Amino acid sequence: MSNAFRLGVLGSGKGSNFVAIADAIESGKIPAEVGIVLSDVESAGILLHAREREIPAQFIPPGKFRTKLDEEAERAFVSALQSVKVDLIVLAGFMRVLKGDFLRAFEGRIVNIHPSLLPSFPGLEAWKQALDHGVKVTGCTVHFVDAGVDAGPIIGQQTVPVLDNDTPESLHARIHAAEHELYPKCVAAIARGEISVRGRRVIWKL
Ligand code: GRF
Repeated sequence: MSNAFRLGVLGSGKGSNFVAIADAIESGKIPAEVGIVLSDVESAGILLHAREREIPAQFIPPGKFRTKLDEEAERAFVSALQSVKVDLIVLAGFMRVLKGDFLRAFEGRIVNIHPSLLPSFPGLEAWKQALDHGVKVTGCTVHFVDAGVDAGPIIGQQTVPVLDNDTPESLHARIHAAEHELYPKCVAAIARGEISVRGRRVIWKL
């Protein structure tokens, strides 16, 4: 196993954020490697993208709950990630809330991307919540994961204007494009050791 800073990526869907991160690694913008990609959805695009790049990719059945992993699944995720000695867990569209043992195993080493400017619009379909609320600016947020939902210290944010003729789909597409810029930048800063956390504040050493 190399000495590189190693990512474990978890996703349930298309995997476009994973692709953005993998591309940034390939082009030398992130000094890291992806050790493993895990999904709770057997047919998830993220697994196909990983296999195309010859990155180990595994489906782990999530168990009996709809919004979280059951105990057995949680143990399987933790041990798959520990077996490749990941330094950072990158949630890229992982649709389950992570709980106790998982959070304890990787405390302070889990990041997520959320499609709104947190703390506005946590939870599902954040772009639709923003449109329905009538805000003029929304965006995306990369944050550390703690026991709350979309609640940990904020690492980075990128704004996206809401246009008068936006539909949920058009707004979501522009937020997605912003995510593909923001997430690689944040992961690169963490991999370079340029990020420190003081309480809720995340400081970038420039
Ligand atoms: C993104 O919109 C992200 O903000 C949310 O899930 C979506 C994942 O998209 N957490 P993709 O699978 O990376 O394309």
